[in-house]
Amino acid sequence: QEDVFKKIVSHCKEYGFVFPSSDIYDGLGAVYDYGQNGVELKNNIKEYWWKSMVLLHENIVGIDSAIFMHPTIWKASGHVDAFNDPLIDNRDSKKRYRADVLIEDQIAKYEEKIDKEVAKAAKKFGDSFDEAMFRQTNPRVQEQLAKRDALHERYAQAMQGPNLEELKQIIIDEEIVDPISGTKNWTDVRQFNLMFSTEMGSLSDAASKIYLRPETAQGIFVNYLNVQKTGRMKVPFGIAQIGKAFRNEIVARQFIFRMREFEQMEMQFFVTPGTELDWFHSWKETRMKWHQALGFGAENYRFHDHEKLAHYANAASDIEFRMPFGFKEVEGIHSRTNFDLSQHEKFSGKSIKYFDPQTNESYTPYVIETSIGVDRMFLSVMCHAYEEEKLENGETRTVLKLPAALAPVKLAVLPLVKKDGLPEKAREIVNALKFKFNTHYDEKDTIGKRYRRQDAIGTPFCVTVDHDTLKDNCVTLRYRDTMQQERVNIDQLENLIEDKVSI
Ligand code: GAP
Repeated sequence: QEDVFKKIVSHCKEYGFVFPSSDIYDGLGAVYDYGQNGVELKNNIKEYWWKSMVLLHENIVGIDSAIFMHPTIWKASGHVDAFNDPLIDNRDSKKRYRADVLIEDQIAKYEEKIDKEVAKAAKKFGDSFDEAMFRQTNPRVQEQLAKRDALHERYAQAMQGPNLEELKQIIIDEEIVDPISGTKNWTDVRQFNLMFSTEMGSLSDAASKIYLRPETAQGIFVNYLNVQKTGRMKVPFGIAQIGKAFRNEIVARQFIFRMREFEQMEMQFFVTPGTELDWFHSWKETRMKWHQALGFGAENYRFHDHEKLAHYANAASDIEFRMPFGFKEVEGIHSRTNFDLSQHEKFSGKSIKYFDPQTNESYTPYVIETSIGVDRMFLSVMCHAYEEEKLENGETRTVLKLPAALAPVKLAVLPLVKKDGLPEKAREIVNALKFKFNTHYDEKDTIGKRYRRQDAIGTPFCVTVDHDTLKDNCVTLRYRDTMQQERVNIDQLENLIEDKVSI
């Protein structure tokens, strides 16, 4: 699976989806650029989200707030004081790690051992993994289970606060070694704030430090009353936003899964106090349906309900997707209570209560948030779409089985030969369709090679213009997934393709 992931990463680079940032300077850690195909796929993901949020819901509208915001916003939101990672350095390798990640990796090691033993037992007795786990009496497994549970409990306790000395003690007691130097020469654990900061010239000295936003949500909270009043919105209503967010992540792993500059699609839904848990459950279901509508298979998604809640939340759940490196969070759904709005009221000194015209009462709405990373969504789409397919003739083709609506290029038009008026006819088709959907022209190399190139970027349809086309106005339409071909009239192409690629 790790090998497959490596192939996906190189495929992303080779076919113009994702490049390391500042590539000719050997890259910049955990920052990436999207290439000519990547930007199209990313835009299509954003459009799919925006349409299903803003266009499908009469009571949800969009905004686009600035990345720079008043610095007090991040005090009010809790990010200045609490948006920290516990860091630890190894004195030999001089490498910096997140203490919590080192411990979580240790827990994962126990789990790996347990899984191996249980899988062995399941194979031996011919039953399922779950059954084998259930009737597990092997003392080796029991010991690992006990160790894992004890460590998990101790870790969860230490993370509350968090207790930095206790985190270090766990690392020492568990004899965790630096993966690079192999030594246990650890420094103390200290807190490290994840926000990037810079200076803004127009503010007075003391207030000149401003932050790059670590989430888009706060831009929605501080605008909620502007939108509610000018849009004459009535609770319940939502505000959606797509935009960049920045976090100085220390552990940057797994390609675009954890980046320092990334993009979020967030929607804050404002509800009457007391109704928030009903809305929380209903948004959980709605969001899961949105993911599954892409057709990647329900078995590849699961909810992960949080037991440990952030200080502002009274319920939280993640939607996880099966990546090649395991089930991973793609989206978070949080019931954020009235925490953010109340904090902004307190710190700004302005009343931002909602006036309910039906009851003549003013109150601070509760908020349900749905928050999804564009880049993580992109990664899940790429991971699911990538296939190396064995063909009947013994060859392998690499194909991206992207949903047609998300594919960067929808149609490739290919003249069979570069003469006899075929290129001109092909260009005519491209010109007629290129404003409807992304249509490419390609005349270089054999038809077989051109098909493979389109397969590799996930183009769902190719049409070939041949000598008969000039007589019967028909082309050969080839489907990416089945590789089947049929003869269709050029006049039917637009409807036929539009039908399949529209979101
Ligand atoms: N406003 C709530 C919020 O920001 P979060 O769980 O910290 O919640 C929401 O982030 C989503 O943003 C995650 O589910 C993930 O998809 C994406 N995300 C967060 N940090 C990221 C990073 N460093 N790189 C890429 N995506 C990230």
